[in-house]
Amino acid sequence: MKVTKAVFPVAGLGTRFLPATKANPKEMMPVVDKPLIQYAVEEAVAAGITELIFVTSSSKRAIEDHFDSNFELESSLIKRGKHELLEIVRGILPEGVSCAYIRQKSPQGLGHAVLCAKQLVTNEPFAVLLADDLIDGGDRSCLQQMVEVFNHSQSSVIAVEKIATSETKKYGVVDVGGSHERIANIQAIVEKPHPDKAPSNLGVVGRYILTPRIFGLLEQTTQGSGGEIQLTDAIAKLLKEQHVQALQFLGKRYDCGSKLGYLEATIAYALKHPELAVEFKECLQGFI
Ligand code: UTP
Repeated sequence: MKVTKAVFPVAGLGTRFLPATKANPKEMMPVVDKPLIQYAVEEAVAAGITELIFVTSSSKRAIEDHFDSNFELESSLIKRGKHELLEIVRGILPEGVSCAYIRQKSPQGLGHAVLCAKQLVTNEPFAVLLADDLIDGGDRSCLQQMVEVFNHSQSSVIAVEKIATSETKKYGVVDVGGSHERIANIQAIVEKPHPDKAPSNLGVVGRYILTPRIFGLLEQTTQGSGGEIQLTDAIAKLLKEQHVQALQFLGKRYDCGSKLGYLEATIAYALKHPELAVEFKECLQGFI
């Protein structure tokens, strides 16, 4: 089977960015000139995804508007002869790609958000992308690398990266039985373990390809760490029934859910932006 659907859980509160996220979705925060969610959508589309499923909440309407056409803006750009900008605006949602939206009534955790997409995903493998993890995979995006692994094995794939031992409390951490391979079978997974209890230094980042069996398991999952329904807990059940692989992807991840990671991403993307790179470098040198 091919992966053609991607779920974007965007119903979180984004409390680490308050007050910026009081009225504006975290996923709409720009890195240079594109909102985080657009980077995630572009990554998905590059990996062959054609159906985008957003799990939203009442305060996230801006996301829906961003992927919709804006007649007033487009006709004004046409009138002013701003064709390049018109192409940029029209290209936000590429031809042949569709969007669907479903509401998560209250933020009960990532696992609950993914479960909300069950009716739209139906009985197919699907991707999950967390837009606040911005991943620069270079020529082959992180999701593309994961799809290649999935196409080979037809089993779930989770993106992981090496993290500092002191950071394990912020991540889901996988046990790959001591394997040093980039692709390894996961034997266990735990949410936010204390460094002394972490099974490895491989932390889960916000990219998953999951088989639809996860929905049944999410339905059986009760509140876990932080009082939320954790996707990690359902994956722990999944790997008792099916192979689940960890992929140490090639590329650089920026944790844009945190202020420091967001600032780091902004600097990295500005330094490679064709219009800005040279001037921005000079500007940065002025600070150093
Ligand atoms: P986070 O753990 O980053 O939570 O969620 P958050 O609420 O967005 O941010 P903070 O921690 O309060 O600052 C990871 C992803 O899961 C989504 C978020 O929108 C984010 O993309 N999510 C989380 C949901 O869609 N629903 C939830 O109930 C929780």
